Amino acid sequence: MSSSALTDLFPHPIVQAPMAGGVSVPQLAAAVAEAGGLGFLAAGYKTADGLYQEIKQLRSLTSRPFGVNLFMPQPEHAETGAVEVYAHQLAGEAAWYETELGDPESGRDDGYDAKLAVLLDNPVPVVSFHFGVPSPEVLESLRRAGTFTLATVTTADEALAVQRAGADAVIVQGVEAGGHQGTHRDNPENDHSGIGLLALIAQVRTCVNLPIVAAGGLMRGSQIAAVLAAGASAAQLGTAFLATRESGAHAVHKQALTNPLFVRTELTRAFSGRPARGLVNRFLHEHGPYAPAAYPEVHHLTAPLRKAAAKAGDVQGMALWAGQGHRLARDLPAGRLVEVLVSELAEAWTALSEVSEYPRFGDGDVR
Ligand SMILES: Cc1cc2nc3c(=O)[nH]c(=O)nc-3n(C[C@H](O)[C@H](O)[C@H](O)COP(=O)(O)O)c2cc1C
Repeated sequence: MSSSALTDLFPHPIVQAPMAGGVSVPQLAAAVAEAGGLGFLAAGYKTADGLYQEIKQLRSLTSRPFGVNLFMPQPEHAETGAVEVYAHQLAGEAAWYETELGDPESGRDDGYDAKLAVLLDNPVPVVSFHFGVPSPEVLESLRRAGTFTLATVTTADEALAVQRAGADAVIVQGVEAGGHQGTHRDNPENDHSGIGLLALIAQVRTCVNLPIVAAGGLMRGSQIAAVLAAGASAAQLGTAFLATRESGAHAVHKQALTNPLFVRTELTRAFSGRPARGLVNRFLHEHGPYAPAAYPEVHHLTAPLRKAAAKAGDVQGMALWAGQGHRLARDLPAGRLVEVLVSELAEAWTALSEVSEYPRFGDGDVR
């Protein structure tokens, strides 16, 4: 399918990232869709029935196209001992929050087959995948149901694998991105410094001819113009939409994005066992350095801690997922944010198109 087939679904090249953990609720996806962007539901951590109910609710709020994001099932880990050690290291947290740790063996496929069945029985316009490549058969069955498919990639090799499997497009996720990196296989022995978004778009374009949706650190229309100029067909924004009124994120999470107390983000395995970018708080600082590469075991293990911290409004114990652009977050209704981004994008695009020569240092008004 061509890139125009994707962007024909929604007028503006703006995708609201799926955000699992109760952030991308139907009200958020509907507000974005109504404003001409592509709204997304996140199936991650939900039951298949919970997903079905959310799709129903979203359809009652808008008749515009939208997407659903699925987590890929995870392979077994050889090293169960590392999870036991981490559980011992978290004993003090459990005592502090007066809760038990979760059962690390609470499932590793996130109900993938049942959720796919929901999406084949009730086809939606767009489905994206995180943490791996779906099989060619799954992609083909979704295509037959009329669904446009995408998968997240964090390297050019992963993009090639997605193209080979037969997806319609790739979501190129730079290391700047908030939340989990969509890395297909988390191998702690590999280089995990990650690749910046512009460098990665250029690398993916050398080997893959699928349309690109760019994600990571994008907070302003001028940045969206930059990734479109670099070859992307649309931009996917998470943190920017996390801050909006309709997002289901905890109020203290939203406030933390622009709180000067939080100066930095880091990639960490502390909360889930997979690299994810969040604001550096006490929990991340203390446990990040030795958290094992064991997703979803660590996710299950820390679930009651995160829940207790959120209940207490304790910003130092929650997973404060955020991209590197977090300080540019704006507290706006989501539809208004789409409008503002579109007008910033138009202004930046016009400025780009009007210059016959690129500006050189010393040309005056350098911004
Ligand atoms: C709170 C949060 C939850 C996320 N959950 C998901 C998810 O469920 N599925 C997914 O594909 N990406 C998820 N992401 C990653 C986004 O799709 C996207 O790559 C990222 O938000 C882009 O970077 P930005 O936050 O700087 O805009 C999440 C991001 C955040 C901030």
